[in-house]
Amino acid sequence: MTTTGSVGGVARARIEALFEAEQRRYVAAHPVSQQRTGHGIAGFYDGVPMHWMRDWSMPFPFLVASAQGSTLRDVDGNEYADFCLGDTGSMFGHSPAPVAAAIARQASQGLTYMLPTDDAVVVGQLLVERFGLPHWQVATTATDANRFALRVARAVTGRPKILVFNGCYHGTVDETFVRLAAGRAVQRPGLLGQVTDLTQLARVVEFNDVAGLERELAHGDVACVITEPVLTNSCMVLPAPGFLAAVRRLTRAAGTLLLIDETHTISTGPGGYTRVHGLEPDLFVLGKPIAGGVPASVWGMTDDVARRLDAVRASMPSGHSGMGTTLSANALALAAMRATLEHVMTDAAYATMERLAGVLVTGLQATITAHRLPWHAVRVGARVEFICAPGPLLDGGQAEAAHAPELERAIHLALLNRGCLIAPFHNMMLVCPVTTERQITRLQEAFAEVAATLVA
Ligand SMILES: Cc1ncc(COP(=O)(O)O)c(C=O)c1O
Repeated sequence: MTTTGSVGGVARARIEALFEAEQRRYVAAHPVSQQRTGHGIAGFYDGVPMHWMRDWSMPFPFLVASAQGSTLRDVDGNEYADFCLGDTGSMFGHSPAPVAAAIARQASQGLTYMLPTDDAVVVGQLLVERFGLPHWQVATTATDANRFALRVARAVTGRPKILVFNGCYHGTVDETFVRLAAGRAVQRPGLLGQVTDLTQLARVVEFNDVAGLERELAHGDVACVITEPVLTNSCMVLPAPGFLAAVRRLTRAAGTLLLIDETHTISTGPGGYTRVHGLEPDLFVLGKPIAGGVPASVWGMTDDVARRLDAVRASMPSGHSGMGTTLSANALALAAMRATLEHVMTDAAYATMERLAGVLVTGLQATITAHRLPWHAVRVGARVEFICAPGPLLDGGQAEAAHAPELERAIHLALLNRGCLIAPFHNMMLVCPVTTERQITRLQEAFAEVAATLVA
């Protein structure tokens, strides 16, 4: 890495010095993790059970000993205020008591039988009441839910393509791995084993670009627009006033379905961004935290989509639909989902999350302003992010340009060494219902100390 020039308004030499110092500090604080994992955990390709576990800023991942609520502990006895929360999988805190009890209860009654339980009877009703759509299915990951919902969109519209916004992420759904380069749709670089040309399956436009959306929909071949209401998988981009209403109006006019992926924006409220802002999706997806950390996701559809799906199915021979997986909607997942919906994703929980996230974002912005850093802080409900570039960002292209990997990894590691764990992929922090004021203060102070070091 070159150490001349600057990134995000900070001298490269200073970033490098911070990163090196923090790496030494990390190694010194994690002898047990280092000794047990060595140069990687034996038996696992690349030294970890899932390769994303290598995507953190630390020289080697620490081994987690336990996590409860908003606090995580490692095998070296270090304690962290957890603002990553499993990158949203544990957004309502680690092992909430009602979920832990439901899991324990179900554990002695069988875990999966490909038949429904009484919990399914309750969960079906809860999903309808909470999210407003009348027809639901359960899958195992948000990726799967998106994949199945997109298949339905293609089936009922008879159209081949989907449309995504530049900078999106909806899981490992092949046809969403496209982006804009110099105004043209291209495949994302780095895809392994990619044999089809994904640009044949998808159109891409910039978020907040109403004219671009109208132009691409005019081709008449788009089955579905899939989007998060806020782009959260790049540096965070909020919708411009009226943008989501325009998306709805234009998709309806074009005979294109609208899939709202709430997997991250469920941070907004108990019914997601959709309910808070009165969106009207045809298809709705929610994964990650819906079962308190047990793998599960849900996807819902309107009456109209369901009726059209009925008609398509009736017109086809029976056989493989290309949807569903064996362990989907298993008894354990449904028990955990019921406990989460009934007792964890409550109005009271969201009120706490909203309040503390507001405190956090204000504190971070105050530090940024005090140091005259060309950065900004932004949030959607309980999801807060600092971005090492001026804002607000308007689209995925700007969000990509705002990303500052070498600066961000130094900050992440410095926060970690100060007892605050934030998400590895960008600068995302989640507040859960049991995050404490002290943990918020700890993160604000750590951020202020790191910022001061960077500009000193
Ligand atoms: C908006 C959104 N949708 C879908 C997914 C995929 O989730 P999973 O990896 O659990 O399948 C993600 C993951 O980050 C996401 O952010």
